[in-house]
This record gives sequence, C-alpha cells and structure tokens, in this order.
Amino acid sequence: MRVLIVHGPNLNLLGMRRPEVYGTATLAELEEACREWGTALGLEVDTFQSNHEGAIIDRLHQALGRCDGVVLNPGALAHYSYALHDAVEAIALPVVEVHLSDIAAREEWRARSVVSAACATTISGHGCDGYRQALEFLAARGQAPAR
Ligand code: DQA
Repeated sequence: MRVLIVHGPNLNLLGMRRPEVYGTATLAELEEACREWGTALGLEVDTFQSNHEGAIIDRLHQALGRCDGVVLNPGALAHYSYALHDAVEAIALPVVEVHLSDIAAREEWRARSVVSAACATTISGHGCDGYRQALEFLAARGQAPAR
C-alpha cells in the first residue's frame, strides 16, 4: 500500500514554530518517523509539503491511481478551504485529517474544519503520534474503497 502524507501551510516551520503548541520535532524528523512507522506497517510513504493551496490540490489529484490513502494536515486551510474539501472528496481515496494540536480546544475560528466532512476520519491533538495513528488507520483499512 502506498500512502501520501501532505503537510499544508507553515508546517515547514515545525520545530521552531510555537513548539509549546506543535512540539519540537522538525518536519524532516516527523517525515522520517512517518517513513519508519510506514515501513513497520508495510506501507510505502511519500511526503509533500506546500504553503500553496493550489499546489496541495494538484498533489492530491496526482495521488489518484498512484496512492491507496492520504494523511493530510491541511494547516489553517482546514478552517476555510472549500476547494481543499472538494479535492479530498473528488479523489475518493481514504484521507485521514491530522492536526498536531487539539483544534477544538484553541481559538473559536480554529475549532471548525471544513475539510473534515470529506475525510475518512480526523485525528487532532495527539502531536506527531497522530500521524502514526493515521497510518495505522489506513493500514488496517487496507485497500478498501474510500468511504
Ligand atoms: C494545525 C492546526 C491549524 O489550526 C494551524 O493553522 C496549523 C497546524 C495543527 O497541526 O495543529 O498550521 O493544522
């Protein structure tokens, strides 16, 4: 099984950006951990990060026919990007939305994700371990249809 992990805006700054909220691991360290977790689960893991909504949507479209599942941390796009919601819906792959922080316990505007409804499940507030949980979810689900 091949899984794509997509990181949205500002996640390239992990490790230095509000470590008390997002933790001290850098994006490179998190991606390496994801590859190791993936290998242990029999998954082949690809990673992608962009600060640009359109580039993220293009990358999701490219996953069609090439990947069996997606782990998506949309960053702040989660809170307003209906285009990202529609892209997730359109590719009809199982997509697990992950947030490092507990978005429900922060600012009011952050509590809602407009992307969630198109995702197979959402994992929020578990730090880097949320990515491991997302990979486990996809591995357990196997190559079943998206939703
Ligand atoms: C985040 C939560 C978002 O609200 C925020 O804009 C991020 C990171 C998280 O992983 O907790 O960039 O997606």
